[in-house]
Amino acid sequence: MVLIHTELCDIVGIKHPILQGGMGPYKTEALSIAVANAGALGIISCIGMAATLLPEAAPLDAERLFGTDPPAVILQKSIEVVTKETRSSGGIFGVNVPVASEFILASQMFVEQTIESCKSDSDTERSLRVIVTSAGNPKPWSVLKDEGFIWIHVVPSAYHAKKAEAAGADVIVASGHEGGAHVSWDPVHSMVLVPTVAKAVKTPVVGAGGFCDGSTLAAALCMGAVGIQMGTRFIATKESDFEPMWKQAVIEREERQTLVGRGLFGPMRFLRNRRAEEIVEQTLEDLPNFYLGEPLDSNEKILDLERTGFVDLMDEKEDTALMFGGEVAGRIQDLPSTAELIEGIILEASEVLEKAPNFVVNK
Ligand SMILES: Cc1cc2nc3c(=O)[nH]c(=O)nc-3n(C[C@H](O)[C@H](O)[C@H](O)COP(=O)(O)O)c2cc1C
Repeated sequence: MVLIHTELCDIVGIKHPILQGGMGPYKTEALSIAVANAGALGIISCIGMAATLLPEAAPLDAERLFGTDPPAVILQKSIEVVTKETRSSGGIFGVNVPVASEFILASQMFVEQTIESCKSDSDTERSLRVIVTSAGNPKPWSVLKDEGFIWIHVVPSAYHAKKAEAAGADVIVASGHEGGAHVSWDPVHSMVLVPTVAKAVKTPVVGAGGFCDGSTLAAALCMGAVGIQMGTRFIATKESDFEPMWKQAVIEREERQTLVGRGLFGPMRFLRNRRAEEIVEQTLEDLPNFYLGEPLDSNEKILDLERTGFVDLMDEKEDTALMFGGEVAGRIQDLPSTAELIEGIILEASEVLEKAPNFVVNK
């Protein structure tokens, strides 16, 4: 078997230097099992679970997606399922906890539940090694290391990477603007961001945003990263928890068919459809207020567009469903199993790296 072994594999204890990105609104339970069993890092996603806390305000009908359990119980059960389903392969998984200030009480609750789940089951303690924090201030989260977790933090800039390093993160994910869902307002893409962050910090860096195959994994390594995190590519896999319509939309979109607009927790990249266009129109209407720093009375309008977008997602209305996705959708045309995808990426990356000396024609 071909292997690409990097520092990331040693730190996390995985075979392949590939992380599955956290991806709400789903739990990504089935996906995390498949990814962990294939030797990469599977991730359970928490953000959607939190919607059950705010049934009135939340943009999605959480009960329809998760049932009536409280969020900590949803996470606890999910951890139990992933532990059980990865036991025989020895797969490693983690939990993604967004730590945006609007979300902080939920973040603490998810972290506490994750710690509790590890304490109460030795198999979970062995396999649930990682917590990935994202979309917020890393400073309060160094406690994760004291609890024995490998702590990975996601950043959109070298400035934020230095903060994550100062806080003690074990690994930093540099997330470029082409990525799906949450992005920074500053449009710095992976080609610039990954090498900039890799130079700015000594902590191992993982590239995210635009990675989908062996050549982009090889490119990430050449830019100083120790691995890649993928979101959009993993949506279009046989096992992923996403609606068939969403998987198909990733396969059909070309590279110019995504849009960035304002979401509830900041800017988001959507697969282009009528709903995404409406959100961008509302974002542009709000823009002068952003710069003036005034309270946004259109919050409710964005919320409504998101809420109906999620309802239409469940009702499989392609044109008005809310679907996030990265520019890399333009490079995705198939629906492989997760294991086929990961093995293919590793094989292609090793071929590319082997051929690399021949890229230069010496005269
Ligand atoms: C549908 C979707 C939902 C996402 N939700 C989250 C999330 O809940 N938390 C998070 O940290 N990142 C989230 N992301 C970002 C991914 O974890 C990952 O960093 C990103 O997708 C990488 O870029 P790519 O889409 O080009 O692969 C999401 C991405 C997508 C496509």
